[in-house]
Amino acid sequence: MPGDKSVSHRSILFGALAEGETRVTGLLDAEDVHSTRKAVERLGATVRVEGSEVVVTPAGTLREPDDVIDCGNSGTSLRLLAGVLAGGPGLSVLTGDASLRRRPVRRVVEPLRIMGADMTARDGDRVPPLVIRGRPLRGAHHVLQVASAQVKSAILLAGLRASGETSVTEPERSRDHTERMLRGMGVPVAVDGLTVTVRASRLTGTRVDVPGDISSAAFFLCGAAAIPGSRVTVRNMGTNPTRTGLLDVLRAMGARVRLEHEREVAGEPRADVTVEADRLEACEIGGDIIPRLIDELPVIMVMATQARGRTLIRDARELRVKESDRLASMGEALAAAGARLELFDDGCAIEGPTPLRGVTVQTRLDHRIAMSMSVAQLIAGEPVVLDDVACVATSFPSFFALLDGLCQGPA
Ligand code: S3P
Repeated sequence: MPGDKSVSHRSILFGALAEGETRVTGLLDAEDVHSTRKAVERLGATVRVEGSEVVVTPAGTLREPDDVIDCGNSGTSLRLLAGVLAGGPGLSVLTGDASLRRRPVRRVVEPLRIMGADMTARDGDRVPPLVIRGRPLRGAHHVLQVASAQVKSAILLAGLRASGETSVTEPERSRDHTERMLRGMGVPVAVDGLTVTVRASRLTGTRVDVPGDISSAAFFLCGAAAIPGSRVTVRNMGTNPTRTGLLDVLRAMGARVRLEHEREVAGEPRADVTVEADRLEACEIGGDIIPRLIDELPVIMVMATQARGRTLIRDARELRVKESDRLASMGEALAAAGARLELFDDGCAIEGPTPLRGVTVQTRLDHRIAMSMSVAQLIAGEPVVLDDVACVATSFPSFFALLDGLCQGPA
């Protein structure tokens, strides 16, 4: 599996802020991470490939970017950079592609302003481009309305340059890769329940070994669970407990899930994970599991069409502000493919099992819609036509090759 996207972004960005080199193995080679790489290079860091490692040499002092920073499709790049640049060098402008320029940024603008940041975004601070004038920051305590690792990370990164203490309290725990990697780089990070606290600190360059991405593996794991006679093993897959809601759902639905060689490397747990098809039963997905599987919900929706009974997904309003409105995109594509599905503001209900048929899909610049509906094609056994395949390069350029290989039997 390609490297975890969240961990990959952080290794490049935090490496650029550190003292001394950071050496990364297993880095995801995909467009989103290229966006972070290009951004840190504009700020004066260098990133080079040395054999199987990617080496990040920090800028020393960040320099004012000499052009607009284009984050492409990557919300993580844009929001984390906002936290860095709020206390950074001079003027920065962050923008992105048509998808990213529709995604909310007020969630980072408001808390960073409380810390003294000078930033403005388009449409009354709603969406990018985002204009930032770096200023001295002061620490603050923030209580978030949504569980978002991007917002939490932006605030913590700003807190590393602010006076006093900065803390973030989330309504539910979001992925904690930032906390783990900052600790690995020598930053004291205090975690108390749902509150994370940092103070102004220096980061020290380190070694990062990026585990395989559960969010990419999800397409194969859900496919294996839903298609009778299938079995898939993903080696060295990240199993950070803030990310493994999918494994809980697979078990609850009756798939056979096995973890082997469980270990922790560079602060991130991982394992070889095998999923085997069995008769799938519907289940309910809501509450604090949602941040633990938010990116996997599109393909979970596909899998749910093959489960017996009514699968209910709630509390997932955040799906509406991802690379596309994923409830709308998946609802439309699956309904056209013959799924029995009802959409709510914060989720959906899916009745199964239902045979699926071929369909033409609008991917809406959203890699996970393209990949989820490719899994739907395996179930349908008829062509699913995607209006754009280039979008998978956002997170998983080798997706179609791997899918083809797997459909021909064991590697
Ligand atoms: C990410 C956090 C999540 C997730 C995204 C990656 C991260 O977004 O959906 O794909 O790397 O921090 P939110 O923070 O908006 O929930």
